[in-house]
Amino acid sequence: MTAAYEYETHVYDVVVVGAGGAGLRATLGMAEQGLRTACVTKVFPTRSHTVAAQGGIAASLSNMGPDHWQWHMYDTVKGSDWLGDTDAMEYLARSAPAAVYELEHYGVPFSRTEEGKIYQRPFGGHTTEFGEGPPVQRTCAAADRTGHAILHTLYGQSVKNNAEFYIEYFAIDLIMSEDGQCQGVVCWKLDDGTMHVFNAKMVVLATGGYGRAYFSATSAHTCTGDGGGMVARAGLPLQDMEFVQFHPTAMACGIDPAPLATEALRGEGAVLVNRDGNRFMLDAHPDAELAPRDIVARAVYAQTQAGLAPALDTRTALGAKILTDFPAVAAACQQAGLDPVTQVIPVAAAAHYHMGGVATDADGASTLPGLWACGEVASTGLHGANRLASNGLLEALVYLSLIHI
Ligand code: SIN
Repeated sequence: MTAAYEYETHVYDVVVVGAGGAGLRATLGMAEQGLRTACVTKVFPTRSHTVAAQGGIAASLSNMGPDHWQWHMYDTVKGSDWLGDTDAMEYLARSAPAAVYELEHYGVPFSRTEEGKIYQRPFGGHTTEFGEGPPVQRTCAAADRTGHAILHTLYGQSVKNNAEFYIEYFAIDLIMSEDGQCQGVVCWKLDDGTMHVFNAKMVVLATGGYGRAYFSATSAHTCTGDGGGMVARAGLPLQDMEFVQFHPTAMACGIDPAPLATEALRGEGAVLVNRDGNRFMLDAHPDAELAPRDIVARAVYAQTQAGLAPALDTRTALGAKILTDFPAVAAACQQAGLDPVTQVIPVAAAAHYHMGGVATDADGASTLPGLWACGEVASTGLHGANRLASNGLLEALVYLSLIHI
């Protein structure tokens, strides 16, 4: 049979599509096992959307007070609106401390306590004693550039382990056999328009979310749902697509994508106020600014709709420390012409994360033989209807790093 167009063929054991946190962790996990691994990505790996992840990784390290993986699991169950898959949640919470220490050993420069332990900060919805005890500082971060640090580290480690990167290759479609097996992926090389076929025993989708479907999103322009599209075209259903998370404190300053004013700021004591100076979260939830994310997002949205101009006030809690402890937020403020040391930061709810996607089991396997998915494109059921803050980077790390084929 003659092909309709010229293409170059590449053969690997594994082809990973996407080089954000999940894609790089999967790439590294496969390459470390000695598998011939290709990672195809439409942007340079360290420019993937994970670079914008400020807050951190939830893990019950107990560096800042008593904690337990079961309490983390409980918070994940509760945060999901009780709709999550408990096997996936247990796996996540149990695996978290090891995943963080592994990253530390790979070289991620985590923020430290005075004793030199990994610093953990408070985020909404993280408690102790199965919700009966006080909030816990559970989120491990590298200042407010956690995603940035993770990408650089995982990319370096992947290259060291001989993973091969195909950068600025746009994955277009899955290659399916007549008996319904996924055998590879077709890509379009962006700089010269040539077509490339990657054949592999294992195709891993790590293409992220589809935030760009929304007018206002924290997602990079690259988050266009490519993986979900390929899977749908191959005839596989997507699950839980109605579960979309909105971040309550995207900066409302005319920049697109909307920069995050990370929840960590609220963890460190920043408060939400409106145009009248009213701290409106006090009436909305007993945990005020650290209520679960969907509750804060709804309250912020209601303020915006009422024309009350919600804003984040970091001045008393952080003062000038915002410039050093939250350099990414400070840089976004500067870009917007705001001085967060003396001014409040205007905020709005914006599309942030998609809980639904390609249905996978706890090993990341889809129902299509030969196809796996991990990170935001996947839907293990882990997050139910609402992802607990700082479980997103964690999810990217714990699935698909150790699968054997
Ligand atoms: C944030 O830093 O506020 C976002 C973290 C997350 O979505 O888990």
